[in-house]
Amino acid sequence: MDRIAITGGRPLEGEIPISGAKNSAIKLMAASLLTDAPLRLTNMPRLADTRFLGRLLERLGARVVELEGDQGAETILHTPEIVSALAPYDLVRQMRASFNVLGPLIARTGQAKVSLPGGCAIGARPVDLHLKALEALGATIDLHEGYVYAQAPRGLKGATIKFPFVSVGATEHTLLAAVLADGETVLENAACEPEITDLADCLIAMGAKVEGAGTPTIRVMGVAKLHGATHRVVPDRIETGAFACAAAIAGGEVTLTNTRADYIRALVDKMTAAGVEITETNDGLTIKRNGARLKGVDIETEPYPGFATDLQAPFMALMTLADGESVIRETIFENRFMHVPELTRLGADISVQGGEARVRGVAGLTGAQVMATDLRASISLVIAGLAAKGETVVNRVYHLDRGFERLEQKLSACGAQIRRIRGSEGGDED
Ligand code: EPZ
Repeated sequence: MDRIAITGGRPLEGEIPISGAKNSAIKLMAASLLTDAPLRLTNMPRLADTRFLGRLLERLGARVVELEGDQGAETILHTPEIVSALAPYDLVRQMRASFNVLGPLIARTGQAKVSLPGGCAIGARPVDLHLKALEALGATIDLHEGYVYAQAPRGLKGATIKFPFVSVGATEHTLLAAVLADGETVLENAACEPEITDLADCLIAMGAKVEGAGTPTIRVMGVAKLHGATHRVVPDRIETGAFACAAAIAGGEVTLTNTRADYIRALVDKMTAAGVEITETNDGLTIKRNGARLKGVDIETEPYPGFATDLQAPFMALMTLADGESVIRETIFENRFMHVPELTRLGADISVQGGEARVRGVAGLTGAQVMATDLRASISLVIAGLAAKGETVVNRVYHLDRGFERLEQKLSACGAQIRRIRGSEGGDED
């Protein structure tokens, strides 16, 4: 298995182009199942997760073509016919978001058999809200042997669905199912993440009638059929935020391009309060720190536009070297501090009680072997490694490959000493 080695202590200088958002791209790919015409997605990130979902869609009947167009990487997805409405355990287990094919399959064919995703490293992550919403739209749902068997032979029917709490996945999944339902669907207490707006924009380009995406109330007037479209994937706000933390911890000056500062407003505010200089540009932001030590600031994760749970670990890495204490409260997932023991291996001083971590800034970190159990925790170790003295080796790089496109190239172009050690070069494995 590959590892990433970082020799810390070098400031970063230069420009990093941000890729299309992973968490949008995979829902947009699922949306392609809703039509028999081609959907062309531009600004596509090339990641393990998008490749993986492409393989599942091919099993369901899609033709998936990846190419380099005049606007960069694009993917054309075309499913003239659904040849199978089965998403097996092996595929859903490897990537939870595969579960999102359930809604489009029912909407298009009136039935589906999709494996339940199970828990994952950051929490139990049930899908009860997804299933209740599909039932409210008229699908019959039975659970046997780890599978969801869904039926709606006469099609889905619009309904009013009030989510008891905000869920990104359930909002997206309901939207995917409702666009072809008969009549009006109203989603109340919907998630407002930019990926939801992106999905709605793509569905609208495909002929759907959706209003209010990006607000807590989304209205969908079902249509009989969707058509093909071209849609540009929004910038990855989590990649943007992670590189902002990387630039701040390493020092120097980095401009992030092809992105939007307003997508990470809560992070920008906290970084500014900590002493990082951030300037918004036309297509992104510049992050600058001139050696002065940052101040510890507190954060609490919240649904968008609050502080993103996916940026909690990167921000914690930044706080390990700040002056004073930073209290970090995780409110979205129940087990999202798996990076703490690994940051501690690098010399960080952090204690955790329940959903709260107290980070007491230290004067310096020291490189070590580390590993993490999820994507965002893994990037926090890379960020810490950029400031640690000596070499940090991050194991289980497959997590990073799921969500960060050309990570080593992007950071080394700004002067970081970072390299991938291929599995065949030996050394410790996890
Ligand atoms: C999405 O997960 C993202 N994943 C996550 O990013 C992100 O952390 C999360 O949203 C929050 O922003 C993708 O988009 C693929 P939720 P999702 O439904 O949709 C509970 C990454 O690293 N819940 O908003 O699964 C759930 O357990 C990933 O890219 C239920 O109880 O998140 C959690 O506590 C990690 N029942 C809370 O709601 C349900 O039916 C919010 O989860 C659904 C969710």
